[in-house]
Amino acid sequence: MRKMFKWLGIGLGALVGLIVLAVGTVYALSEIRFNRTYDIQVEPVAIPADPESVAYGEHIASIHGCKACHGDELSGQAVIGGPLVGVIVMANLTGGAGSKVGDYTVEDWVRSIRHGVGRDGKPLIIMPSNQHWVMSDEDLGALLAYLQSVPPVDNELPELTLGPLFRLLFLAGPLAHIVSAEQIDHDAPRPPTPERGVTAEYGEYLAGLCSICHGPGFSGGPYAGAPPGSPPALNLTPAGELANWTFKDFLTAMRTGVTPGGRQLSDEYMPYQTLFGEMTDEEWEAIWLFLQTLPPKDYGNR
Ligand code: HEC
Ligand code: HEC
Repeated sequence: MRKMFKWLGIGLGALVGLIVLAVGTVYALSEIRFNRTYDIQVEPVAIPADPESVAYGEHIASIHGCKACHGDELSGQAVIGGPLVGVIVMANLTGGAGSKVGDYTVEDWVRSIRHGVGRDGKPLIIMPSNQHWVMSDEDLGALLAYLQSVPPVDNELPELTLGPLFRLLFLAGPLAHIVSAEQIDHDAPRPPTPERGVTAEYGEYLAGLCSICHGPGFSGGPYAGAPPGSPPALNLTPAGELANWTFKDFLTAMRTGVTPGGRQLSDEYMPYQTLFGEMTDEEWEAIWLFLQTLPPKDYGNR
């Protein structure tokens, strides 16, 4: 009997040892990537001061998801995910208590928004700068004009801490995109920006907001970072449903989530309200014009 307990004890001890070793390895490997420093040559952008630009900057903050993550007042929020996931913290971007940006320079703003790198040179976690990288100087300037105009809100938040499961998924691939700094070519020349207007060219620029989920070729399929239970994104090329839609059908679907076939899209998965509720008719039309120019692609052919 004694002997059995002894072996059981050794077995359990070995198992605990292995778990500690595995978790330790996961922490060590993820910390290397979280602590890498990026030396980035930041190009400052001009910040306009007129009220129209500030209002337009707020529009950018809405359609680019700054408000969806950092909160309507941009005062930040913490999402407590439990011991395996950790605490995800979206920074307070106002000048109030708990602010992360109180003494930010223009360069600091550009480095964090466009490159996903904090002022200490380390990558920001979860901040999706690979999506913001294409933002034109004009849009970024207006966004900064707006960000610098928001009223200060006091909101002290805990530190961002990532649990073992989150880190494991980061290393294994499903959450690899959370360090967007790793996915950006920081030295690439700025992409050209078409003039704002109801044109397919401007629609292509705006449709960068859709390709995150619908894929670079807009043909749909599963995508990185999809919430649990999400259906795959659908094919937006003329090989999909949209071939039979008019612009009016499209506009109705993007405003109400109801497709011409009578299907209700869920805002949780296809965020027509949360992310794109502030999109103007002109912006939707430009996107529509661009989608019409796409070559038909089979579903999921990315
Ligand atoms: C998917 C959610 C998400 C979206 C969308 C998002 N952010 Fe963030 N952002 C975060 C998280 C999380 C952090 C904290 C990162 C960290 O602490 O490592 C962050 C950090 C930042 C920081 C750095 C603060 C610091 O600690 O120095 C700035 C600035 C910022 N975000 C601005 C923006 C702006 C502007 C937009 C819109 C263009 C935006 N974010 C969109 C999640 C998001
Ligand atoms: C966060 C991910 C995400 C983003 C961003 C996104 N979509 Fe979607 N979209 C989805 C998902 C997921 C579905 C499928 C929803 C369903 O089946 O209920 C979908 C469905 C659609 C549909 C319905 C297609 C059909 O055949 O019924 C259209 C149209 C659409 N999206 C257009 C867009 C446009 C235009 C944009 C950019 C302005 C965009 N989406 C951005 C995830 C996204």
